[in-house]
Amino acid sequence: MERIVAIAQQKGGCGKTTLATHLAWAFAASGRRVLLIDLDPQGHARSWLAGSPSRGEPAPVALAEVLEHSPLAGGGTTIGRAVVSIADGLEVVGGELSLARLEHHLVARPGGIECLAEHLADAARRWEVVIIDTPPALGLLTSSAVIAAGEVLVPLSPDPYAYQGAHRLMTTVEHLERETGHRSRRYLVPTLLRRGERLTGEWLARARAQWGCRLLPLGLRRSVLFDRAAARGRVLAQTAPRAPAGRDVQALADHLLERWDRPGEACPR
Ligand SMILES: Nc1ncnc2c1ncn2[C@@H]1O[C@H](COP(=O)(O)OP(=O)(O)O)[C@@H](O)[C@H]1O
Ligand SMILES: [Mg+2]
Repeated sequence: MERIVAIAQQKGGCGKTTLATHLAWAFAASGRRVLLIDLDPQGHARSWLAGSPSRGEPAPVALAEVLEHSPLAGGGTTIGRAVVSIADGLEVVGGELSLARLEHHLVARPGGIECLAEHLADAARRWEVVIIDTPPALGLLTSSAVIAAGEVLVPLSPDPYAYQGAHRLMTTVEHLERETGHRSRRYLVPTLLRRGERLTGEWLARARAQWGCRLLPLGLRRSVLFDRAAARGRVLAQTAPRAPAGRDVQALADHLLERWDRPGEACPR
C-alpha cells in the first residue's frame, strides 16, 4: 500500500517524530482514517498525542506482543487490538518500552523483519494512511518499517550529521530492496529550516544537487511553536494553524496527498 509511510533517519533530533505526529494529524483532519505507529521504544510520538490520561483508553495489548507473532503462524493478536483512539479518524499504536526487547526477538527469528509488513497486509481495510515513526537507528525495527512501507520519508535538517544519516538510510533502503525484492519510494523532507538565511539557501541548493527530485520541494521551517505545542501534547493545527510553521505542515500534507492521487511519478524508484 503506497500510503504506508515510514519516517526514518538514523540521526536523532532531526524531526522524525514531529513530522510523524503532524502529518498523521493533518491527514486525519482531511478526513482520512489514519493509524500512527510508534516503533520507537522511547514512545515520544505516542505520548505526544495520547500522553494526557484524558485522551485515549489504554490499549489491552502492547504493539510488541502483537509483532512477536507472525500472523501467518496464527494464534497471535492483531494491531487493531493494540490501538488507542486519539481523535476523529486518528488512532495510535506502539511506543512501549517492550519494543526494545521485541527488536532482539525479531532479529533472532527467521523472517522477523517481515513481521510488521505481514501485520499490515490488510491494513487498507481499516486505515487509509498509516504513518510509522521509527527509532533513531538503522536496526531491525527501522528496517521492518521500511519493508512494510510504500514510501519512506527521511527528514533532513541542515547539518552534516543529518546529511550523513540520510545517505546511510538511503543506502540501507536500497540494500533491503535488493535483499527482499520490496520496492518503496523514498524522499527527503527538509526540516528545521531557517527561512531567509543565506546559508539555508546554499544548503538546500547543495541537497538538491545531491538528491535531485528525491528532495521534496516543501519542508518545515524551524519554529519554537513545535516545542511549545509538544509541551502541551498538541500539534500546530490546534495551537497555531495560521502561523507560518503551521502552514508549512498543511502545505506538506496537501503536497503528499496530491502526489499520491496523481498517477505517474516524477522521480524514479
Ligand atoms: N521544525 C522544527 N522547528 C523547531 N523545533 C523542532 C522542529 N522539528 C522538531 N523540533 C524539535 O526538535 C526536537 C527533536 O525533534 P523530534 O521530532 O523528536 O526528532 P526525532 O524524532 O528525529 O528525534 C524536539 O524538541 C522538537 O520539538
Ligand atoms: Mg523521535
